[in-house]
Order: sequence, then C-alpha cells, then structure tokens
Amino acid sequence: MWAGVTAGNTDRLADAFNSSIRVDSRMYREDITGSMAHAAMLASKGIITEEDRKLMTEGLAGILDDIQSGALPVDQDCEDIHMFVEQVLTERIGDTGKKLHTARSRNDQVALDLRMYLRSECDELSDLIRDLLGALATLAEEHKETIMPGYTHLQRAQPVSFGHYMMAYAMMLVRDLDRISDCRKRINISPIGCCALAGTTYQTDRTMEAELLGFDGITLNSIDGVSDRDFAVELLSTLSVLMMHLSRLSEELILWASWEFQFITISDAYTTGSSIMPQKRNADMAELIRGKTGRVYGDLIGLLTILKGLPLAYNKDMQEDKEGVFDACDTVKMCLQILRPMLLTMTVHKENMLRAAQKGFINATDLADYLVKKGLPFRTAYKITGNLVAVCMQTNRVLEDIPIEEYRQYSELFSEDLYQEISLKTCMEKRISAGGTSSTSVEKQIAFIRSLLNND
Ligand code: ARG
Repeated sequence: MWAGVTAGNTDRLADAFNSSIRVDSRMYREDITGSMAHAAMLASKGIITEEDRKLMTEGLAGILDDIQSGALPVDQDCEDIHMFVEQVLTERIGDTGKKLHTARSRNDQVALDLRMYLRSECDELSDLIRDLLGALATLAEEHKETIMPGYTHLQRAQPVSFGHYMMAYAMMLVRDLDRISDCRKRINISPIGCCALAGTTYQTDRTMEAELLGFDGITLNSIDGVSDRDFAVELLSTLSVLMMHLSRLSEELILWASWEFQFITISDAYTTGSSIMPQKRNADMAELIRGKTGRVYGDLIGLLTILKGLPLAYNKDMQEDKEGVFDACDTVKMCLQILRPMLLTMTVHKENMLRAAQKGFINATDLADYLVKKGLPFRTAYKITGNLVAVCMQTNRVLEDIPIEEYRQYSELFSEDLYQEISLKTCMEKRISAGGTSSTSVEKQIAFIRSLLNND
C-alpha cells in the first residue's frame, strides 16, 4: 500500500506494533456499509461510473457475506480492517477496487466506522438497561410492602420497603438511559468526506452519504471531523456512571447475602463455593460487577489521557481509542446481562428484613412526630424520645415493649394510640409524600418506569 515514498520494508516487529486489526476487525460491517454508501455517492456525483459502483457494491456485499459466514478469515497481517477490505475488494474485482478510496482517507473512514459501531452499541446498551429496569419494576411490585431498615451512615435509620429500595436503583438507570440517548445524538454525526483533514477537491456530497448511512447530520469542520473523539469519551463517561450504579447495587447484594445480614440468598446459578471452605457461597458475580467498574473507569481515563495534548488533526495515538471503548461496551453489556437474572432469581428473606427493622429503633422519629402532633415542640419531643430509647437500650427492650403507664411517666400526651403510630407498617405507609416509601408512592414509581418502557 505504501509503494511510492517509502522504499524499504518496515520491520516485522514494527508492523505488528503498528497494526490495529486485532481490535478493529469487529467493525467490518460498518466499514463495508460505509464503503457501499461512499461508492453510491461517488457514482451519483459522476466521480466514478455506474458500472464501477455496481461492481464495487457487489464485491463489498460478497466480502460482507464471506466474513460473516467465516469463509473469509480476516488477515491478521493487514494493518487494519479498512486496508483488509480494500485489499480483498481489489483482489476480487480488479482495478476498479482501487477507485473506492477516491475522495476519502482512512482518517475520516475510521471515524465513520467508529461512530457507526458505537451508535449500535448505544442501542444494545439501552435495550439491556430497559430489561434491567423491567426486572427492578417486577421486584418492586412484589415487595412494595416488604419492610426493611433503611440506612444512613450504614446505621438503621427508618423503615422503607424493599420495593422502594429497588426503585431507587431504577431511577439511576433512567438517568443512564437518558445520558446514552443524549450521547448517541452527538455520535450520530457523519465525519465521512473530511478526508485526510482538509476536505477534498472533488465535488462530493457529504450530506447524501450521511443520509444513506442514517446519520442526523455532518461534521462542520474537516479538521475537527477527523480529530474528534469526544463522542467516545462521552460514551465512556456515561458507562462509568452506569457502572458506578451497578457497583453500588452489587455491593448491597453482597452485604445482604452475608451471614451478618441474611436479607437475600443469591441463587446457586450466580454464586460459587470456596475451594477450601465448604460452608461458603460467594457472591462472585456481584463482586465481579463491582470490580469491573474499575476497568471501565480505566477505559475512560485511558482515552482522556490519549487525547490530552494531542495536536490536530489525526495522529496515530488515536488508534488506541478503540480498544478501551470496545472493552467498556463489552464489559457493561455483560454486567447488565448477568445482573438481571441474578435479581430475578434471588430469594428475598422478608422475615429477616423485618426482624432487622424491628431492632435499631427505626420508629423513633415517628414516636417524636406523635408527640409533635399532640402539641409538643419537635425539640422537646426529640428529647423525650431520646430518653425512652436510652431506657430501652439499658433494659434490652424496643419502643413497642414499653407499657403505656411507663410512657406516661415521660409525657401525659402519650395514650394507647401510640402503638399503632409506631408500628413499622404505619411508619412506612404514612410516608406518602411524593417519592416517599409508602406503597402508593412506590406504585406511582413503578407506573412511571413501566410507562417509560412501553413508550420506547
Ligand atoms: N487504524 C487506524 C486507526 O485505527 C486507521 C487510521 C489510519 N490513518 C492513518 N493516517 N494512519 O486509527
């Protein structure tokens, strides 16, 4: 390919070092459809003949079929997928194949392929997030009345429903979906026709080519068009936030599955045993999701670092963009796929959650509120409740155990109805404020998620 200025052969090790085909061959479909559109544009502008276009298109279609069927293995000695496709095309259709690279460069071609590849990754990722949202909605529906302790500072704080808890994660994923679709908008702009960096002297039609390939527009500056990888950085940052969410959920699953909590049992299908400790069932899948989060963050930081200080326009450094972004997409898709069935098959131990909620005085706020409703200022009510909690701790009781006579020693305002007020069920169901933990509020949240899933 370099016949011309370069006379000598490059070193074998240098060739291997220079090659990106191991990483970029997965973009063969995008490369070929991109080339078909390019041939169509060239022919429509009279830059190549209609016969040439036909020959090229048929040749390219054959290559696509053959790569897909396995009949044509991708030659790992080629520098990249773009060179490979062009080389095979020329072998198959002769000199006409050499006309395909008119009015383009690998610089705009690789940017095009990457954008096409990542936009379909966005679609796949969005589908998987939606599937996971569906699972969270199912769990929330089932457990909108399942009481568990909600925590702050990892100390039992107030009763919430397990369904409400699951919906908290759903809301994070809704934002992730939104971020992906926003990022997809900027991915879906076509750089093809920017050529090496300065545009071309041929009378091309970039808009036509962009439309043929389903893009929403074209990049407006050719230097930027070939140098821009913001779209990949954005996707990586979106995926990093998504992984942070999956990691937080995984961490909770790991804690809840521990002997200390025993809130859930993760199905055998998603746990492993220990090689030496027969009693163990490790939450390996959840731990891996948590661990792989670091990997995705690394992919983001890697690309940011590659691009930092890079002069315009294309530099070979940019070849390093794909490995990380592909790795992140693969990793996140795997995590989403494994998390959904893991959630749907886990056993939720309602009785253990309830038992944990009954300890820890998580209805103390409600007892104070009870006194406030009877006319005491909140600070005074808070103090009385604090004293009662202290007495309970010393005597190994909970607030529900204290007889009414004893309550009345602390305040004349206490009467029998307090027991109803501080029952965990009441505490939970009374939190009817928008977005609160009452089952009616959780139902609204589920309805919101379901309408979102139905609309798409
Ligand atoms: N394999 C290259 C990449 O992934 C394609 C672009 C090569 N362009 C060039 N001028 N060497 O970035």
